[in-house]
Amino acid sequence: VSNLKVGMFVSGLDRDWLETPFLMQGFFIHSPEDINKVAEYCRHVYVLGTGKLDFAGEVDFESGILIGRKPEKYPLQSSVQKEHKQAKVTQKKVRKYIRGFLKSTRFGETVDTDAAKGLVSESVESVLRHPDAMSFLTKLRGQDEYTVEHCINVCMLAIVFGRRLGLRKNQLINLGLCGLLHDVGKMKVPYEILMKPGRLTQEEYEIMKQHTELGAAFLKKRKGVFQGVIDVALSHHERPDGLGYPNGLADSELALFTKIISIVDAYDAITGDRVYATGRPSTEALRILYEQRGKQFDDKLALAFIQTVGIYPPGTVVELLNQKVAVVVDASLGLRHLPRVLVVRDENKEPCEEYLVDLGESIDNPQLKPYLIRSSLSDGCYGIKLASFYERGLFEHEFKSTPPADPS
Ligand SMILES: [Fe+2]
Repeated sequence: VSNLKVGMFVSGLDRDWLETPFLMQGFFIHSPEDINKVAEYCRHVYVLGTGKLDFAGEVDFESGILIGRKPEKYPLQSSVQKEHKQAKVTQKKVRKYIRGFLKSTRFGETVDTDAAKGLVSESVESVLRHPDAMSFLTKLRGQDEYTVEHCINVCMLAIVFGRRLGLRKNQLINLGLCGLLHDVGKMKVPYEILMKPGRLTQEEYEIMKQHTELGAAFLKKRKGVFQGVIDVALSHHERPDGLGYPNGLADSELALFTKIISIVDAYDAITGDRVYATGRPSTEALRILYEQRGKQFDDKLALAFIQTVGIYPPGTVVELLNQKVAVVVDASLGLRHLPRVLVVRDENKEPCEEYLVDLGESIDNPQLKPYLIRSSLSDGCYGIKLASFYERGLFEHEFKSTPPADPS
């Protein structure tokens, strides 16, 4: 809130709208008094961006963005429903591959690094057609152990982020590979430390930190591995404030891909379930990135990532003002706070016939105002299991975007 300025549009609060005097669909800050009023109720809020990132094309990092080069633009090529069918198949293949890869690494067997490129490039194609299908899948954690889920998610989210930054297609493939293989060194850390269901002792933590050097050394020995992948494995825990490990590098020594992966890595680690703790909500992870920008995370990239993920990422379970419960399906770029949602529970939280509501239409249609989002819920709330809706193919179904007539 201390960063609010007159002219900004507030699109989300850190608390339930109903507990404040503000408008549910967002409001403009017209005067310093408005800022004071927001400060009475909130510590942080979401403001609507212009849709432009003040980042891409400015910086020349080793990994290939040229100064002044225009960011690549990728128009959507598919509906999110159609893309769900493809993304699911691709993710399954990537899962099978990385599960085998990590296992072979752990047991010192030979690993196939060549297949990774083809699989990552298939993932890039999916994200380019429609990023919200793959984003959604990162919310649906499978049954594999943490490192497998984490490597897949960091790969997919990095590609989604890179698309938004306007990286070229070959850069997106390289970035995805960096995400997929960044933590391979963890397989060289003793299993009991990796899977310990509690806090690590200082000594264990020092051993865990070696996964960076172990991973880089392992990848270096493989033929045909892109140098960026080795660099990211080594330096994804380095920080712009110089307090990272293993080498305490300075900000100027960190490459673009390292900075990107360290942000995505932290986001997924905070939101994912661990052996010792359940994952925290996406909004909480974004708040941490925001607070640590310029310190633990690159300032501009952290802001760009927050803008990419948005306040209600696909797959978020939300309660609506009319007490019904829905799942976020997708959202257009300028209206991330007014996504399309699939209603899955009635006002009594009982299962209902599912239907889609496009909250973007609430701007012109007052009848849709009761469907605006009141707050985010965690997966599992009211017995809602995202995975079970997904398995029923609901997100692949082309619903007509109108709610049924409400008897109330
Ligand atoms: Fe790591």
